[in-house]
Amino acid sequence: MSKQGGEYEFIKAEKKGNDQNVGFIQLNRPKALNALCDGLMKEIGQVLGEFEKDKTIGCIVLTGSERAFAAGADIKEMQHRQFSEVFSGNFLSHWNHVATSRKPVIAAVNGFALGGGCELAMMCDIIYAGEKAQFGQPEITLGTIPGAGGTQRLIRAVGKSKAMEMILTADRMNAQDALAAGLVSKVFPVDQLIPESIKQAEKIAQYSKLMVAMCKEAVNSANELTLQEGLHLEKRLFHSTFATNDRKEGMTAFTEKRPPKFTDS
Ligand code: HXC
Repeated sequence: MSKQGGEYEFIKAEKKGNDQNVGFIQLNRPKALNALCDGLMKEIGQVLGEFEKDKTIGCIVLTGSERAFAAGADIKEMQHRQFSEVFSGNFLSHWNHVATSRKPVIAAVNGFALGGGCELAMMCDIIYAGEKAQFGQPEITLGTIPGAGGTQRLIRAVGKSKAMEMILTADRMNAQDALAAGLVSKVFPVDQLIPESIKQAEKIAQYSKLMVAMCKEAVNSANELTLQEGLHLEKRLFHSTFATNDRKEGMTAFTEKRPPKFTDS
């Protein structure tokens, strides 16, 4: 996929799946183990914007290489920055594109997912891992702390003790431990990770995009709201599905014993 007629510099982007309904983003800075330089993060924002507008895309897969999903924010780019500059410029504030995508994003993680790489994976809605994946928050070794959600999302994913241990010791978590801890939802052989992730994305993309977006909004709100507020939001969203053609079609198709044809309306 091209950007205003030109190729992306730090990522590859294309449509995948039998119905070309999966947006596929591959980080492509192999020599730097996909370190997340400013240009790369801007390109992720641009392609997500394109995928958001594309009505044929129902789910997005974000991946790296077999060696590294991403080895973190680009240390060489950060090395000489000053406090006054990062504070006044709100450094890295544009890193939230993945977290704010309205379409579901699956992280397919092979190899290293460290620092900002682990944080980027955690901004996604589902994480699948290859058997050799390694997750970690090594910022403490660099004299800094996680700055893109590591201290907030990791604790929600794996609980306080494991999150604190990873962040304070810089110890990494392998794929099996990440599965046991709930950080990832499935582990695949390295060479199966991408095809299996695309298969799962196709499954999601076949459903009503309205319902997928409502599910995503409701589930994400559980981290933000009290239980009563969350239950209220869920009930109102559920009620609102009765105003859609897709709810009618889904239930009619069930009673007529045929597959539904959703129209995203
Ligand atoms: C810039 C990086 C990089 C990074 C690796 N490279 N990680 N460059 N930023 N985060 C570069 C190396 O400098 C090297 O380039 C090349 O990639 C290959 O890396 P090696 O270290 O030679 O590979 P290896 O020995 O296999 O070790 C792999 C590694 C190690 C364990 C992943 O590279 C590593 O520890 N990287 C840093 C991980 C990290 O600390 N991440 C957190 C960053 S801070 P050359 O040119 O020398 O060949 C962060 C903050 C987030 O993410 C806050 C966000 C708001």
